[in-house]
Amino acid sequence: MRVIATATLDAFAGAAADMVCDQVRGKANSVFALPTGNTPIALYAELARRTRVGLMTFTSTRVFNLDEYCGLSAADPHSYAAFLRSHVVEPWGLPLSQARLLRGDAADLAGECRAYDTAIDVAGGIDMCILGLGVNGHVAFNEPGSAWDTTTHVVNLAHATRAAHERQAADSWQIPDKGITMGIKTLREAGQILLLIAGSGKQAARAALDRAVADAAWPVTSLLGHPRLTILELSGVVEHR
Ligand code: GLP
Repeated sequence: MRVIATATLDAFAGAAADMVCDQVRGKANSVFALPTGNTPIALYAELARRTRVGLMTFTSTRVFNLDEYCGLSAADPHSYAAFLRSHVVEPWGLPLSQARLLRGDAADLAGECRAYDTAIDVAGGIDMCILGLGVNGHVAFNEPGSAWDTTTHVVNLAHATRAAHERQAADSWQIPDKGITMGIKTLREAGQILLLIAGSGKQAARAALDRAVADAAWPVTSLLGHPRLTILELSGVVEHR
């Protein structure tokens, strides 16, 4: 496990972007699992900048999102699919066929989970999984107490998760009770994991990682022992751009 601490948002985004670029230089058609939330916004902006100025091209990459709210269509501006389209798919110039985003509004959610797992398998698995960290230690939407042998599945969102999202929302909207998420087994099977830690309220989850003991109450500890785990943290509060 590698831990990198950065002092500024630019250094945080730059270090994460360097890792993404190294991955793509090594394998142009890398498969990524990508997070939403405030934490990765500066990373996505930096990757978009590198694309714009011609430093990098991501057009062969394939992307999956980690999670989605149940009940939201990809056209809903609150959906994670919409977030990833505007922060990643469009700036990277990805054909839609290379971006498989969870369908939160699927009539058959169990079927959607199976189809998603099949799509990940067909892509050859996740090469690089980038994760944010929930205030309660969740990764993607794997909430405290989740099983660790799971693939894509539907979850009940924890109270702490819904409260955090309500606080972050720019407008008032009813946060759904349920989410759909890649499971911990899928995350752990990724070739490499980049865990991004930034923002307020993450201290307790970070402390669980420091204890270095696998603990189902802190899903992030399921990542411990992964052979290529990097923890990249910003010691300060994330600025919003
Ligand atoms: C949500 C997402 C996670 C994300 C987490 C942290 O719950 N499901 O994938 O990592 O929020 O969000 P933020 O980066 O805004 O702190």
